[in-house]
Amino acid sequence: MTRSLANVLITGGCGFIGSNFIRYILKNDGFRGRVINLDALTYAGNAGNLMDMESEHGGKRYFFEKADICDRPAVESIFSRYDIDTIVHFAAESHVDRSVQDPEAFVKTNVLGTYTMLDIARKAWNNRKDTLFHHVSTDEVFGSLGKTGYFTESTPYDPRSPYSATKAGSDHLVNAYRHTYGLQTTVTNCSNNYGPFQFPEKLVPLMILNMLEGRPLPVYGEGKNVRDWLYVEDHASAIWLVMRRGETGESYAVGGGNEWENLTLVNTLCEKVAAATGKEPTTLRKLITFVKDRPGHDLRYAIDCLRIKNDLGWRQSVDFDTGLKMTVRWYIDNMRWVANVRSGAYREWIDLNYGKR
Ligand code: NAD
Ligand code: TYD
Repeated sequence: MTRSLANVLITGGCGFIGSNFIRYILKNDGFRGRVINLDALTYAGNAGNLMDMESEHGGKRYFFEKADICDRPAVESIFSRYDIDTIVHFAAESHVDRSVQDPEAFVKTNVLGTYTMLDIARKAWNNRKDTLFHHVSTDEVFGSLGKTGYFTESTPYDPRSPYSATKAGSDHLVNAYRHTYGLQTTVTNCSNNYGPFQFPEKLVPLMILNMLEGRPLPVYGEGKNVRDWLYVEDHASAIWLVMRRGETGESYAVGGGNEWENLTLVNTLCEKVAAATGKEPTTLRKLITFVKDRPGHDLRYAIDCLRIKNDLGWRQSVDFDTGLKMTVRWYIDNMRWVANVRSGAYREWIDLNYGKR
């Protein structure tokens, strides 16, 4: 079975993964439909991430709609204007540290917002089978691993942070809408992504930029926590494959098979940044500063993604060495983007072009 997708509503398409995904499908020969990007442009969203797609496809195959997923009338209006048959739901508050400081926005967007999207889809589609609600989720819903073992699709949910708890809640709502109302759904639970356009609060871009600017490299605790890293385009290809050929009602775990202790990763990044800039790796390493640990810090995430590999033939295409080099190069070449996301200049551009929020 291969689904044909015509009018694809993408929530959170101005964020890191959403913008990479939109570029991926608009460049994909297998997709001839339209993309409608619905994004509230929070601190993490920049319509400027898709300037190239806006100029190439704007008004033809690419449409941007500024809206909050919790705003039911606004989303309903977008739904009917574009005759939506597919949703890819990325929009979320996504940073664990922010969720520790202030969980409320996470409960609103990740739980209430997902409910709103599901409920609008259920009513608009009214049991139509040629539709799909694809929910983009995280491996963090499964909790924390010890030194051994892997998360799979059947690992029990055990979220530990306000972020992962709200993502777990959204996954449960998706499954409830599948079982109760027969909504056509698929879910992906992916490990940590890295790559271009990632907001510089997350580990990889934060470390690269601090190295470039000679600022301390804050490593939480002893730096022994482990994450499984995947290049963002490989996440995009996994989502695209599940949307096209995944079994309705199923979830798919996605990961890089690429586990790194944080401290080892930061040391490796020192080498990559040094190689790209001519700085000394030892000078960069001296910037490493051990800081107070994140409360409730999950020790280890690691994914066994045999289902998506065996059932759908998914393979990642970017190895870690190449992906890190490309990412370091991207940030060096895009310091204006960095300045813009830090200063909120894009916000001004958006207010000018799309009206104030
Ligand atoms: P991000 O923070 O970079 O982007 C989130 C986007 O959602 C932004 O464009 C923001 O403006 C938008 N948004 C936030 N609240 C909104 C609202 N109420 N209404 C409309 N738009 C809103 O996040 P990301 O890293 O690109 O993650 C995207 C999705 O992928 C999230 O659901 C996240 O849980 C999931 N995920 C992320 C990772 C990762 O490593 N970053 C891994 C697995 C899964
Ligand atoms: P992060 O990029 O926030 O992703 P997540 O918490 O969703 O996995 O963090 C990745 C790892 O890096 C995590 O173990 C926390 C750690 N970390 C630091 O040590 N220092 C930092 O400044 C940040 C942002 C993260």
